[in-house]
Amino acid sequence: MAPEVEGRGMSVVAGVGSGRTAVVIGGASGIGAACVDRLRTDGWRVVVGDLVAADGVLPVDVTDEAAVAAFLDAAVPEGGLGLAVVTAGVSTLARVVDHPVEEWRRVVDVCLTGSFIALQAAARRMDAGGSVVLLSSLNASAPGTGLAAYCAAKAGLDMLVQVAALELGPRGVRVNAVAPGLVPTPLTAPALDIDGIEDDYLAGMPLGRAGTPAEIAAAVAYLADAGWVTGETLRLDGGAHLRAYPDLVARVEAAFGM
Ligand SMILES: NC(=O)c1ccc[n+]([C@@H]2O[C@H](COP(=O)([O-])OP(=O)(O)OC[C@H]3O[C@@H](n4cnc5c(N)ncnc54)[C@H](O)[C@@H]3O)[C@@H](O)[C@H]2O)c1
Repeated sequence: MAPEVEGRGMSVVAGVGSGRTAVVIGGASGIGAACVDRLRTDGWRVVVGDLVAADGVLPVDVTDEAAVAAFLDAAVPEGGLGLAVVTAGVSTLARVVDHPVEEWRRVVDVCLTGSFIALQAAARRMDAGGSVVLLSSLNASAPGTGLAAYCAAKAGLDMLVQVAALELGPRGVRVNAVAPGLVPTPLTAPALDIDGIEDDYLAGMPLGRAGTPAEIAAAVAYLADAGWVTGETLRLDGGAHLRAYPDLVARVEAAFGM
């Protein structure tokens, strides 16, 4: 029997009924939570998974192949998954020469390998018309000091999107990504607490303001229904990709006297 999932003002019985089913992995917080809200507003039945247990959220570790398969089987026991949005992500801050390899592995494991695992498992459960949206970043194309693992993982993710779109297109399954710039969420809060970092971001951003999770979710919703778009990474960054990326490590060193 499919699990009943409560969440965000609406209850769904995963995998049952005639509506289109979407999953959001990493949906307990930030951009993922905004995607859950937006997709439900758009009429999707949404099953939410995250590493962090919360009301209406099924536990799933995106780096664990068996756990992702079990989560998707619970969401769509009979297959026919309509949309998979993978927002699980972590970051770290360390210069290349000081970067602990374990930290590198952790970031690449969640952001790149985890996205691959979720994409693979989701695509196996999709028919023609299904689609996957992954979370890239401005850092896929804009290198930032201290962000080697994150930048490399997101750049790899952009190429994964293209290869998967190439392979899955003939089956009618589309694969895309969104690449946000600065969006205040629990992920970015520790950096934004440090004096000067937000100013640096905004100075490098033609539109001069941070984005909101709802703006990213609107782009995810667009890609979910954009039937002739595949292999695309859609930038949403206030134009920040047009300017230099802030020197995060210099700011942290100045803040902590390192
Ligand atoms: N906030 C930004 O400025 C920004 C910019 C570019 C890209 N992104 C990307 O957007 C995505 C969402 O980030 P956010 O800012 O909403 O951060 P967030 O920390 O608010 O949300 C990330 C979620 O991923 C979950 N998660 C972490 N590891 C997981 C795992 N192993 N399995 C399942 N879930 C896991 C966390 O529990 C959390 O709920 C990430 O991929 C991030 O890299 C964010």
